[in-house]
Amino acid sequence: MEKYIINGGNRLYGGVNIQTAKNSVLPILAASVLTDKKVRILNIPQITDVKNMVKILGCLGCKTAYNGNDIVIDSSSASCCEIPGTLAHELRSSIFLLGPVIARFRRAKIAYPGGCDIGLRPVDLHLNGLKRLGVKITEQNGYILCSCEKLAGNEIMLDCPSVGATENIMLAAVKAQGTTVIKNAAREPEIEDLQKFLNCIGGRISGAGSGTITVEGVKDLGGCNYLPIADRIEAGTFLIAAAMCGGEIEAKGIYAENISSLLHKLRENGCKISVKNDKINICSKSRLTSVKSIETQPYPGFPTDLQAQMTALCCICNGNSIITENLFETRFKYVPELRKMGADITVAGRSAFVRGIEKFKGASVVSCDLRGGAALVISALAAEGKSEVIDLSHIDRGYGQFEYKLRSLGADITRAAI
Ligand code: EPZ
Repeated sequence: MEKYIINGGNRLYGGVNIQTAKNSVLPILAASVLTDKKVRILNIPQITDVKNMVKILGCLGCKTAYNGNDIVIDSSSASCCEIPGTLAHELRSSIFLLGPVIARFRRAKIAYPGGCDIGLRPVDLHLNGLKRLGVKITEQNGYILCSCEKLAGNEIMLDCPSVGATENIMLAAVKAQGTTVIKNAAREPEIEDLQKFLNCIGGRISGAGSGTITVEGVKDLGGCNYLPIADRIEAGTFLIAAAMCGGEIEAKGIYAENISSLLHKLRENGCKISVKNDKINICSKSRLTSVKSIETQPYPGFPTDLQAQMTALCCICNGNSIITENLFETRFKYVPELRKMGADITVAGRSAFVRGIEKFKGASVVSCDLRGGAALVISALAAEGKSEVIDLSHIDRGYGQFEYKLRSLGADITRAAI
């Protein structure tokens, strides 16, 4: 197990290149199973979730080869339709493989997915959507068994705009016979990116980013070289870090419209933010003013994946805030760790009630999920004195070269074995 040792109090200055989006690269890697032609995904992030997804592709018989920061996937010899339980438990996005594996092999077997322990995370919307396309599904000893004679396009209405269910249905419908219409679809930028990738290999999809996506099934798909969009959550994490530590940084390669809900809140806090093409500059010179309330919502609302980081920022603002987590049931597990740093925060149901304090005090804290862990790191950077953030396995799932990037901005952070 590893930890970060952090000496807090340094202001952050400089530029940071934003990685390609974890939540875009993962469904795109799953989509590569759909075609027997080679695809090259450019500049993929060096994170555990991607490494595990690539391992799963290998188990399905896909040939994968890293080439610098790119990866080439050749699924022509893919033949297995079972995703091993050990790997499926490692990441939530293993469930995205159901759609493409069924579309390719007409059968699929997968254990229930893993991922961050932030709530129940059911997969009923995924399975109901696939059933609407003609897939027969049984669940046995923790495995989901799927089979179908043929995939037939249909109209699917999602009970809630689930990102994963929208992506899974797109991945199955792209090779179904006929047209599929997904209503109440998720609108995240990563959904648009998946549509763009699928159309790049010959799919015929439209409407991503709106609430209704139309998929015209096609028989064959080709290959392509593809650069996924930048990671809006990594970018938001760095912007919030700069707001908390003070200083001035520029996040490069990220378009402001993908995190406009965060930028709106940071301006309300008193940060100076300027945008030029795919660069976002943030300047924070003095103690910030609290925002009264933050409610996480599906895109384009405030992203749940920035809830922990923003709550940490609220803890050291002047004033009180209420943060409400509307998407996941238990996404405040990092709160007791923030309290060790002096946070004045109470959680009741889906809301956290924060009274701003002057500064965090360094402490030894434990990271228990990906975004909560990132929130603890940026809190330690802003704290007075020395901190340790223990168990980096969650952070490593989603942030590539995290300490290198933070050090390049002036942070005093080192990784050490425990
Ligand atoms: C994706 O998870 C992201 N993960 C999550 O990011 C992100 O927090 C989430 O979307 C919301 O934006 C990836 O893309 C790999 P959902 P996903 O299905 O697809 C309910 C991170 O930190 N729901 O949109 O699992 C569910 O319980 C991760 O990078 C059902 O009820 O999220 C939740 O309340 C964490 N039934 C809501 O929908 C289902 O079948 C949103 O979940 C599916 C979901």
